[in-house]
Amino acid sequence: MKGLILSGGKGTRLYPLTYTLAKQLIPVANKPVLVRVIESIRDAGVGEIGVVIAPTTGQDIQNALGDGSQWGVKLTYIMQPSPDGLAHAVKISRDFLGDDRFVMFLGDNVIQGGINRLIGDFAGSVWNSQIVLKEVENPRSYGVAKLRPDGSIERLIEKPKDPPSNLALVGIYMFDSTIWEAVDAIKPSARGELEITDAIQWLIDAGRTVYPHVHQGWWIDTGKPMDMLEANSLVLEELTPAISPEAIIENSQIDRRVTIERGARIINSTVRGPAIIGEHTVIENSYVGPFTSIYHHVTVRDCEIERSIVLEHSTVQDLPVRLQDSLIGRHAVVCRNGERPKALKMNLGDHSTLWMA
Ligand code: DAU
Repeated sequence: MKGLILSGGKGTRLYPLTYTLAKQLIPVANKPVLVRVIESIRDAGVGEIGVVIAPTTGQDIQNALGDGSQWGVKLTYIMQPSPDGLAHAVKISRDFLGDDRFVMFLGDNVIQGGINRLIGDFAGSVWNSQIVLKEVENPRSYGVAKLRPDGSIERLIEKPKDPPSNLALVGIYMFDSTIWEAVDAIKPSARGELEITDAIQWLIDAGRTVYPHVHQGWWIDTGKPMDMLEANSLVLEELTPAISPEAIIENSQIDRRVTIERGARIINSTVRGPAIIGEHTVIENSYVGPFTSIYHHVTVRDCEIERSIVLEHSTVQDLPVRLQDSLIGRHAVVCRNGERPKALKMNLGDHSTLWMA
């Protein structure tokens, strides 16, 4: 069995962060989502993985992941010239996949509990494909499945205006070589993409066996900032806390559910978990509250921050109110401007949002 991770696309819903950073490289609990995906596939016993990348962000992804040996896998990069759809990404990966059975995992999905059981079930079956479904509140944002009373799949529709159920397609799919005929047969959808949902529908219509597994744990598609914060909270909750012996903690209260990475310094501060403080980050005279991930080389001074993600080399300093539910990019500065006249002063990138108390 092989693995295929889809890490191309544009990430427009996460602008401005994704102007300069592949969305799959944004860290959740201080680990890029893409690394979490690689680890899930590896832990299920699959070591040969293709990674579909886009011309815009592909080089960054290759720089971050290398040949995969750091995670005990062998990575092969497959360039997709333009984001022409998930089924298109599969189509261009044919040389890599050959006639092997494979698991395809969208590089922006985070799922509770890993995929060991899913891979085991598929490997031991004669199914042509297995898909994963999850009940959601907003099925319009996803591919949606309608099941028959016996549990088999009647119909799959991509982002329906009028969803026939609340069962969304999770971004984890398993296929055998019958998928090649399907991706060759389908035509681009109204939004101009070759949809994997249409390819699976083609398999069903052709009488192939597609098994729908309904997932019981949590699952997040980290497509939007609020989804990113939600995934961060859920993963932090499951993290086994650890305080590096190479961290410095002075005159501070650290909760039990806190991870502090090497070289971090916590001074005159309170950190309440679940939270993670990255390498060489400084927290001084501050409160870091639950569900917060502060990445490497960040400075947080004289302020309060809760349920947020702060990326590397940023500074959050001297704020008059608590910062919460925020996603702060790399090399960003958030601070008080003490000068008169009292005014908001900002230097925001395209597609940024600023909420005032
Ligand atoms: O997350 C689950 C959903 O993923 C499913 O419910 C939908 O049926 C499926 O179409 C997909 O919808 P999204 O709108 O979330 O897909 P998105 O464009 O965000 O792409 C998902 C991943 O695949 C992302 O890591 C980027 C990558 N990708 C996307 C496209 C369109 C590619 O590598 N190539 C592409 O051409």
